[in-house]
Amino acid sequence: MATTKYLLDESQIPTSWVNLLPDLPGEPLPPLNPGTGEPAGPDDLTPIFPIGVIEQEVSTEPDVEIPEEVREVYKLWRPTPLIRARRLERELDTPAHIYYKYEGVSPAGSHKPNSAVAQAYLNKQAGVKKLVTETGAGQWGSALSLACRLFGLECEVFMVGVSYDQKPYRRAMIETWGGTVHRSPSDRTDAGRSQAAHESGSLGIAISEAVEVAAKADDTNYALGSVLNHVCLHQTVIGQEAIAALEQAGEYPDVVVGCVGGGSNFAGLIYPFVRANLREGKTTRFLGAEPAACPTLTRGTYAYDFGDTVGMTPLMPMYTLGHDFVPPPVHAGGLRYHGDAPSLCALVHNGLVEATAVKQTDAFAAAIRFASAEGIIPGPEPAHAIKATIDEALAAKHSGEERVILLGLSGHGHFDMSAYAAYHAGELEDLEFSDAEMQEALDRLPSAPSIA
Ligand SMILES: Cc1ncc(COP(=O)(O)O)c(C=O)c1O
Repeated sequence: MATTKYLLDESQIPTSWVNLLPDLPGEPLPPLNPGTGEPAGPDDLTPIFPIGVIEQEVSTEPDVEIPEEVREVYKLWRPTPLIRARRLERELDTPAHIYYKYEGVSPAGSHKPNSAVAQAYLNKQAGVKKLVTETGAGQWGSALSLACRLFGLECEVFMVGVSYDQKPYRRAMIETWGGTVHRSPSDRTDAGRSQAAHESGSLGIAISEAVEVAAKADDTNYALGSVLNHVCLHQTVIGQEAIAALEQAGEYPDVVVGCVGGGSNFAGLIYPFVRANLREGKTTRFLGAEPAACPTLTRGTYAYDFGDTVGMTPLMPMYTLGHDFVPPPVHAGGLRYHGDAPSLCALVHNGLVEATAVKQTDAFAAAIRFASAEGIIPGPEPAHAIKATIDEALAAKHSGEERVILLGLSGHGHFDMSAYAAYHAGELEDLEFSDAEMQEALDRLPSAPSIA
């Protein structure tokens, strides 16, 4: 019988994370202090991050050891399965081999605990009592609440307004693991009060609120669920396991596809393969899928910008739609972010990674096709990557190629069923991305050296 699931043993959980920074082509562009315009150093980060996180953020070591305590927690759900999508292949009648790495088996239902557990551990080591964070879809907030519970920390979450309303059970999850959750923009912070007009909220606004709370309290730190180097680093357990499981299958991918919000699951999946391209001359293609309503990589400007809406973070070199661009309320809450991980943006800028924008109705149609063949109901975020994967498989069919496709299935959609219900009822709209609105946001980019 042909194999469907490629499973690794617990002993094959990676022992180190892959740090791609030393392999990135060209001189790395440092984050900048917005006040001085000088490179931001560890001192800019100590008010909100512990030293262990800062060391990882700036590390130039190609491999960073995973602490044993973190690997112990990873054992609760890792290694995650690699599944050959044989039924989807048959349904598409494609010669392509489609594999998906399924992160939805984690307790929170996505890849997010891979970094939440590492961050909670490093903060606990530093004697921190409480972590505060933002969450879009609720995936990161619930993952951090779980991680804080496991390491005995308190957890406070600012949840993007539209997701807070759409996903009440994500809130209940955060509370079940002991965290507290507020609708953002809230009246608890200056940042929230200043953005009260943006009722639906955005990740950028929620980040501003969380950073403000963390910066004001001594025993409290901030934890970010994507974008920064250390978060992408933690997620590389995904790609390393995928390489080992594909080896079992006797395959190597021609193309790797994932969804991009801030970039962490996609980075975690592809960076070990990107390193093999750069070091060993492999020729795998990489394709990031983002929402057409928030098309950072495909239509953004490559510039220094703030990571949050209010302008409290260092300036980061990235493709951006403008830090105060508030994306339309698409159901893929985890993809509503104005920027992307600087390391991933550098790869796109250098032509090493491609990107595509997907409309939300096309993403849901693809998700339903996937669920009909493979059973798993995907989150709205990876649904974007599924659409791109199906397009790759159909292109292989047209050219008659036996293309090997690896898809990052970053999470399940069990708490997103109201979005599926809206799709079934024909009520899901393709929210327009307005050039005029974006231009306004770009006009307000902070002054910084040009990088394009
Ligand atoms: C299931 C899932 N996939 C993807 C994302 C996007 O985030 P990132 O690009 O950091 O992986 C999120 C964010 O909340 C998510 O919940």
